[in-house]
Amino acid sequence: MTGGKPFYITTPIYYVNDSPHLGHAYTSVACDALARFMRLDGFNVLFLTGTDEHGQKVAKSARDAGLAPLEFCDRVSQNFRAMTKLMDISNDQFIRTTEERHVKASQGIWQAIAGNKSPKGRDNIYLGKYAGWYAVRDEAFYGEDELIKDANGTRHAPSGAEVEWVEEPSYFFRLSDWQDGLLAYYDAHPDFIAPKSRRNEVVSFVKGGLNDLSVSRTSFDWGVPVPGNPKHVMYVWLDALTNYLTAVGYPDTKAAAYKTFWPADIHVVGKDIVRFHCVYWPAFLMAAGLEVPKRVFAHGWWTVEGHKMSKSLGNFVAPQQLVEQYGVDAVRYFMLRELPFGSDGDFSRRAVVGRINGDLANDFGNLAQRVLSMIQSYCGGKLPGPGALKAADETLLASARALLMKTRTEMAEPAFHRALETIWHVVGDANRYVDEQAPWTLRKTDTARLGTVLYTLAETIRHLAILAQPFVPQAAAKLLDQLSIPPGNRDFAVLATALIPGTVLPKPAGIFPRYVEAAAAP
Ligand code: MSP
Repeated sequence: MTGGKPFYITTPIYYVNDSPHLGHAYTSVACDALARFMRLDGFNVLFLTGTDEHGQKVAKSARDAGLAPLEFCDRVSQNFRAMTKLMDISNDQFIRTTEERHVKASQGIWQAIAGNKSPKGRDNIYLGKYAGWYAVRDEAFYGEDELIKDANGTRHAPSGAEVEWVEEPSYFFRLSDWQDGLLAYYDAHPDFIAPKSRRNEVVSFVKGGLNDLSVSRTSFDWGVPVPGNPKHVMYVWLDALTNYLTAVGYPDTKAAAYKTFWPADIHVVGKDIVRFHCVYWPAFLMAAGLEVPKRVFAHGWWTVEGHKMSKSLGNFVAPQQLVEQYGVDAVRYFMLRELPFGSDGDFSRRAVVGRINGDLANDFGNLAQRVLSMIQSYCGGKLPGPGALKAADETLLASARALLMKTRTEMAEPAFHRALETIWHVVGDANRYVDEQAPWTLRKTDTARLGTVLYTLAETIRHLAILAQPFVPQAAAKLLDQLSIPPGNRDFAVLATALIPGTVLPKPAGIFPRYVEAAAAP
């Protein structure tokens, strides 16, 4: 663990019934950009991701695959681990809910909840019988009034998932007694749920009244045994949400990691799992006598070429295929730049190629390439020193120096698209400055001025590259190599320093290649 203020960020843990796809990569990339930004900004970051391996859905997928559940989980969890590597995700931990430490944490929180009384002085957990609807795909219970009937009269969950009627002995969590506590919490912590529209949805859902929640299942056994009654396994969402505590050492609340990182600073989730994170999770934590996370941010969903992504439609997008085709940085940049974080968006190949050839190759790539090439050919590869600065130089440098403050504000939301827009605004300024100053002419007319212009540009590119690291880590690293900035010296603190004239720069190489559609086979 390093020094600095702690910052604990999590992705949802991914169900192992599916192969990794674009949606999973998106949550991971968004968290990664924020985690990297905070690390570079001096925070002591704990970044967690992993896989959600229990429950009826996974048990069924394992059965369908003809494998024992754990064998199946071992295999698919590996695919998610590979996805994190592929997308250049800098997670500090990868948790699996089948790990022993997690079983211990889940049983620990159950015992803590059961050992406390509800705000109305009743048992938080009681034994009863569940009779109602359940959607295996969502791993969620639904009331009759929430279901939607299709043309044939078949009921579906609001997500479109099939539902089945379930009747079985079950333990219940007395969620109804936590309604006032939750509303008071939302009131006292207006930033707990973001964006605002999600917050409003959650508040009105809770105001509408809460039913007690079934928190154990008896019709299958793939889960964490309920302490004291192993005929029951814990409801998979109670087990899954607890992963955020497992990673910091719970149930040992004296563990250094727990003391440092709990409560989490931000759980980033998709909009489909807001209720679990913003209603059930804080209620479980309050009932267990634990602190509630500071923030839950719900992002939107991607469609693909205008359609919902699904295997049956044949438009399932695997991150592997995208990265092979476009490169990891380009995919990361596209995802974070294309749509406001929190909104839905469409993933189209045309849009990806537009961003690659426009923002990356033409704008940033070209800026770096032409400036660094001029330093090579006009100055023998040695960074020139600046002379007296003119207003145009001061203006460009001032906008580069203002980037850290601006992007900090945007990343605090987080608004990745705006942070990138802000950075690229300066890319645009710098490109215009090159055209206006025309160093190729200065080379012949005023070599002192040439030095100032190229130095101003190199210094601007240094700021841009340092701030681009969280989003496009590989390209930014290449660019910083080309500015001869040592790898250990690339955090935001170095923005306060400046390039040293006379530094020898290596031969430049392109950082953002243009995407050229492969010619169709004859
Ligand atoms: N296992 C639960 C989370 C438990 S957290 C304690 C789960 N897993 S999931 O694999 O189904 O989804 C993981 C994340 O991927 C969710 O945040 C979900 O919103 C996101 N996405 C899945 N499909 C998506 C898109 N098409 N677009 C964007 N994100 C989507 O839910």
